[in-house]
Amino acid sequence: RQGKKDRAFKIYGLVRDFYRILLGKDIGARALQYLESRNLSGAARETFQLGYAPPGWDNLIKFLAARGIREEEMVKLGLAQTRETGGCYDRFRNRVMFPIWDSQGRVVGFGGRTMGDDNPKYLNSPEGEFFNKGQLLYGLHIARKGIREIGYAVLMEGYMDVVSTYQHGVTNAVASLGTAFTRDQAKLLMAYTHDVVIAYDADAAGVKAAVRAAEILQNSGCQVRIATIPGAKDPDEFIQKNGLAGWQKIIENAVPLVQYKLMQAVKTYGLQNKRKVLQEVLPNLAAVASPIELEEAIKQTATVLQVNWETVLEEIKSFRKNTR
Ligand code: GTP
Ligand code: MN
Ligand code: MN
Ligand code: MN
Ligand code: MN
Repeated sequence: RQGKKDRAFKIYGLVRDFYRILLGKDIGARALQYLESRNLSGAARETFQLGYAPPGWDNLIKFLAARGIREEEMVKLGLAQTRETGGCYDRFRNRVMFPIWDSQGRVVGFGGRTMGDDNPKYLNSPEGEFFNKGQLLYGLHIARKGIREIGYAVLMEGYMDVVSTYQHGVTNAVASLGTAFTRDQAKLLMAYTHDVVIAYDADAAGVKAAVRAAEILQNSGCQVRIATIPGAKDPDEFIQKNGLAGWQKIIENAVPLVQYKLMQAVKTYGLQNKRKVLQEVLPNLAAVASPIELEEAIKQTATVLQVNWETVLEEIKSFRKNTR
């Protein structure tokens, strides 16, 4: 079992190096240009071991076959796919390659980004024995040190967000590889910190997913705040516009879940619709376990709604009674 795992890690390492070397060759010129157009530095490319999977159906297959690896194994590792008519072809073709590591820094899969408008935008390794998206956090083995030093972690959506913000000095960020944050990912992160700032994309999907992730982290016993990213669609775009100083303001302005939901509900329903706004946050208020935190949350809610705090408390009490 362990021997089989070690062999897989070794092969994924070989593949990562294959892609990395090609990014530096003539054939990788367009990929390099793409990364430069995204303003990624050479240092960031190195730290995150970025590479390039060339076009063509069997570049990787030939490379691995020459090293004694059978096609059957390549398929099992998610590197090659079988043709209905027999034979195999490379899974990743003409994409910028992001190796994905486990928390110990062993490569367990890849994400490949198209340089154009192809669908999907990102092609990942298939889910399997080694690559379980819901159990990995992108960049964790790199961010470990920063998380320890800075004392909290930042949770982002994507590869680009982590790489780009790292380049600007944000060393404590990881990505959930999309918006579906899981309990396992919460556990993984909480081995390093119990303090997380969520910085998902500014779009509706990001807002919704941030609330979900916050609830999962909170239920796991983590302290959570949610950041709002003004004037940009995600952390990558934001930090390119505003630099590290702007980023630090975003972190300072990040708010607890109840307050974040309040802000969103006010945006959606308007302040005239106090009932609607309150209904959005009542479940969260009722779930606050710490009396001190609850008092704080009640005060904030009362202030936003311009009602007495006693009124909010009454609402919480009756909500608790009705949902028991
Ligand atoms: P980039 O800045 O180029 O990364 O694009 P973006 O900011 O528009 O990416 P987006 O916010 O859509 O994606 C965030 C993360 O979600 C990515 O880093 C991926 O991990 C994941 N993701 C996005 N699109 C896809 C997709 O088509 N397939 C898969 N499997 N994952 C995706
Ligand atoms: Mn812990
Ligand atoms: Mn997004
Ligand atoms: Mn982006
Ligand atoms: Mn994005």
